[in-house]
Amino acid sequence: MTEQEAVPARPLPVSARAPGKCILFGEHAVVRGSPELVLAVDLHTQVVVSPADALRLNGEPADPDRNPYLGPAVAAAGAESRFDVRAVSRLPRAAGLGSSAAFVAALSTALGAAGGGIARPALAQRCFEIERAAQGVGSPGDTTTSVAGGYVTLNAGPASGPLLWTVGAGSERWEVRRAVDPGWDWVVAYSGIRRSTAEAVRAVSARLERPDGPALLEQFASVARAGIVAVTSGDREEVGRQLSRNHALLREVGVSHPRLEALIEAALPAALGAKLTGAGRGGSIVALPRPGREVELVRRLARAGAVPFPVGPASGAELVEPPRSA
Ligand code: PMV
Repeated sequence: MTEQEAVPARPLPVSARAPGKCILFGEHAVVRGSPELVLAVDLHTQVVVSPADALRLNGEPADPDRNPYLGPAVAAAGAESRFDVRAVSRLPRAAGLGSSAAFVAALSTALGAAGGGIARPALAQRCFEIERAAQGVGSPGDTTTSVAGGYVTLNAGPASGPLLWTVGAGSERWEVRRAVDPGWDWVVAYSGIRRSTAEAVRAVSARLERPDGPALLEQFASVARAGIVAVTSGDREEVGRQLSRNHALLREVGVSHPRLEALIEAALPAALGAKLTGAGRGGSIVALPRPGREVELVRRLARAGAVPFPVGPASGAELVEPPRSA
């Protein structure tokens, strides 16, 4: 399935999966409209949706405190709220790897299919609205990447690739483009520290209200632009430099953490560059291995106490065969 293809109609039970994501450049600043580059990673959330007499998640009655996305996703699909949803994920939660976006995208893909099919731009918009309603703040970067797959830019202009769609809320709009795949493997590493995206976004937002905020925002945009040019032109060394510059800015706005600094230090001998990825304050880092040193990089991160995942691009949210037992 490619980004141009709509999700086709499918009767229940229906199963879908959607990838997590890793932000390579531009998190936080993207909330204010700056450019971002995101990679959909081959760690998925899969759901199976079956008819039921009430709304259930993994056999339990739906509980908005435990999963604030389920009810709104069902409502957004215009469906009667009587489904049994089974979800499994390889993505650690609250780790900066887009687990909530992957859940929303997988579930909305399955419900969209059960509701007669859905075009991909409409699916991306729907997923953004569901996540935004639950989190109160944020950009469409995570949900749109989970829907689109591969390398995706937001607000990076026509040179970054062909337009996929625009996504928005009120007067805010983000332009989403397909960036070329340089064919590299990346390594993400989870620190084990869970944190709230919404709290980190609010803290950075307050930081950017200070007098030097506009200058900082311009630096975020300039790093993201340079990083996107470097990735799309396949300039590994330059990407490494821009990753480290982006991390320095994230540290400056207060979203690094001593554990993340230690992981980056452990990674750097085997990496061209590394940065925190996602909201920060814990969560994960991403590093670009030096050519031929990926295994060493993974070992270094594991020795430093993280959970490393070698990742490459994944295709976007898609229907899959339900397991035979569904
Ligand atoms: O940590 P995550 O996976 O929730 O990513 C958050 C990315 C931010 O730019 C900080 C917020 C956003 O919605 O874009």
